[in-house]
Amino acid sequence: MVGMVSRGIVALTVRMPRWFVRWVSRRYVAGPTLEDAVTIMKRLSGEGTCFTIDVLGEEITSMDEANFFYDEYIRVIEAIKLNKFDANLSIKPTAFGLLINREAGMENIRKLVALAATHDMFVRLDMEDHRVTTDTLDVVRELHKEGLTNVGTVLQGRLFRSLADISECETELGPLADYRICKGIYLEPEDIAFTSYRDIVDGTNACIDRILDAGAYCAIASHDYPVIQYAKSALASHKMGPGLDDPRKNAGPSRHNKGPGYEFQMLLGVRGPLRRKLAKEGHRTRIYIPYGEKWYEYSIRRLKENPTIGSQVAKAFLMPWTNRP
Ligand code: FDA
Repeated sequence: MVGMVSRGIVALTVRMPRWFVRWVSRRYVAGPTLEDAVTIMKRLSGEGTCFTIDVLGEEITSMDEANFFYDEYIRVIEAIKLNKFDANLSIKPTAFGLLINREAGMENIRKLVALAATHDMFVRLDMEDHRVTTDTLDVVRELHKEGLTNVGTVLQGRLFRSLADISECETELGPLADYRICKGIYLEPEDIAFTSYRDIVDGTNACIDRILDAGAYCAIASHDYPVIQYAKSALASHKMGPGLDDPRKNAGPSRHNKGPGYEFQMLLGVRGPLRRKLAKEGHRTRIYIPYGEKWYEYSIRRLKENPTIGSQVAKAFLMPWTNRP
């Protein structure tokens, strides 16, 4: 029933005029320009939160398009420095050309990560669908091997492979491994991924345990109470938490203005009160700020990829008390 309603909302939204989609998405997307993202970050900085910035746009069709993303992220780095924001970068490897020409895509990412390193800035490779999971992890491993350790990626709790990926990277990246753990937005086939809510939550929580055991940095990216509650108890059992240094013997040094071994991350516009509550309890929180000309494609694609977002967005509008920004 919920699935049908969600699909109905998606079918309706994709037929709506652009202005309507913009109206719906403006809460979740800073706007079309970097200046829009800067304005939002200035406003939210007062909450004591930090940021990760995403230039919207995913898989590209020619390597020329990758130049746009490279140049735009350089502008982002400059804006972060100029405004002294506590912020880092989130990039989509396919927007840098990874699926068109692996070597050229890798070189684009390498150049950006190297530039960010000169500013002690961290770069997170967002995780896209299963076609690029291995490539994305390989890019991180290769860059670390080359000495560029200000880069990490995302693990998706819904994928069967994630626990094994953490173990493999533990050997290669050691304490410098740095993950965002989330459920995973892409609806993957059932031979490689959990598909029920309970299994996805359990898969995500198992990854949180594994990341913490491995001594890696753990960015918990969820708005879901059972995941956040679980993360808090997992942190407590590792004697980690607000105001505490990371006591894990196998953990790396604190780097790139990060928290003591962990942080919570949320999307712009989603469950602000929960984010503020975590911050008030002393947890480091980070807001994911997407912006860019491709806001329309991004909004529609996300809706089509995972129709449950349709019902979440509808709920946010019809029952705003459940999801204040
Ligand atoms: P769940 O979907 O159960 O949401 C819990 C509640 O939060 C909902 O009931 C609703 O109230 C609210 N909510 C959640 N998402 C919402 C939305 N979009 N709009 C309105 N309300 C919403 N995925 C991926 O595959 N690769 C990646 O790189 C990333 N990166 C990433 C970064 C950050 C900072 C976050 C927070 C999330 C991601 N994700 C992601 C997305 C993630 O995998 C997942 O799809 C969403 O966060 C939704 O899962 P939750 O754990 O929040 O639970």
